Amino acid sequence: MEKQAKKVALITGANKGLGLEIARQLGQQGLAVVLGARQGKAEAPAAELRAQGLDARAVELDVTNAADIAALPQFLQDNYGRLDVVVNNAGVQLDEGFDVSPDTLRRTYEANVIGPYAITQALLPLLRQAPAGRIVNQSSILGSLATISAGEGGSWATPGYTSSKAALNMLTVVLAQHLAATNIKVNAAHPGWVKTDMGGENAPLDVREGAQTAVRLALLPADGPTGGYFHGTETLAW
Ligand SMILES: NC(=O)c1ccc[n+]([C@@H]2O[C@H](COP(=O)([O-])OP(=O)(O)OC[C@H]3O[C@@H](n4cnc5c(N)ncnc54)[C@H](OP(=O)(O)O)[C@@H]3O)[C@@H](O)[C@H]2O)c1
Repeated sequence: MEKQAKKVALITGANKGLGLEIARQLGQQGLAVVLGARQGKAEAPAAELRAQGLDARAVELDVTNAADIAALPQFLQDNYGRLDVVVNNAGVQLDEGFDVSPDTLRRTYEANVIGPYAITQALLPLLRQAPAGRIVNQSSILGSLATISAGEGGSWATPGYTSSKAALNMLTVVLAQHLAATNIKVNAAHPGWVKTDMGGENAPLDVREGAQTAVRLALLPADGPTGGYFHGTETLAW
């Protein structure tokens, strides 16, 4: 298809929680939003966003499934002729305490590190054509070596989730440096502690607030930062 005028954003893990809300807010900003989710789970939320007047579409995307990822560039090319924003939001927290099995660690890395890496790699050719490509990696303050080494992780400082988000942070920095001479900006987001299935009921923030960091990074102006780690407008220590 010929390149459409409207910007296009792909959000992974967009069937619920922060991903769905990020898609909603980007849609409200006038972008066409593509909701990635596994097992057909993005269909109903995409229809919900369309009913709210937004330009939304579902795509089958298990971030650990190589065939789903390989199909993405053609899907985006056929339906929009462009891609401007990728929000690598899908993630898992599988740790049950400190004694994480190697298998759990492996599954955590598949979803939180290798998935975002593979998706970004597959979509870079399209992003390079965008006037203002933006990659947002949904990290966590628990991926901060500075925070965890200062003893501020408490009982959340378990091996799998924290180290996977630290790895995602490093991918953010390395990719941002690699793309420094291009129009593409790459940043990591900490949404805060947010009420979702992962964050639980005791979290102080709702998804509307939690989505704002990733949305800001997805819409950064040309003079905005790249290779950074943010919560809201606050820069976090790696
Ligand atoms: N909530 C918080 O306080 C908090 C804090 C810091 C960082 N984060 C990060 O924010 C992101 C979103 O989390 P959330 O709080 O919104 O949690 P959530 O409601 O549990 O949502 C997680 C999302 O990731 C998806 N997902 C997991 N594995 C996937 C896979 N293999 N393929 C495709 N999608 C997959 C889930 O899909 P299914 O429904 O199919 O499982 C779901 O859509 C995560 O990366 C998380 O680490 C959250």
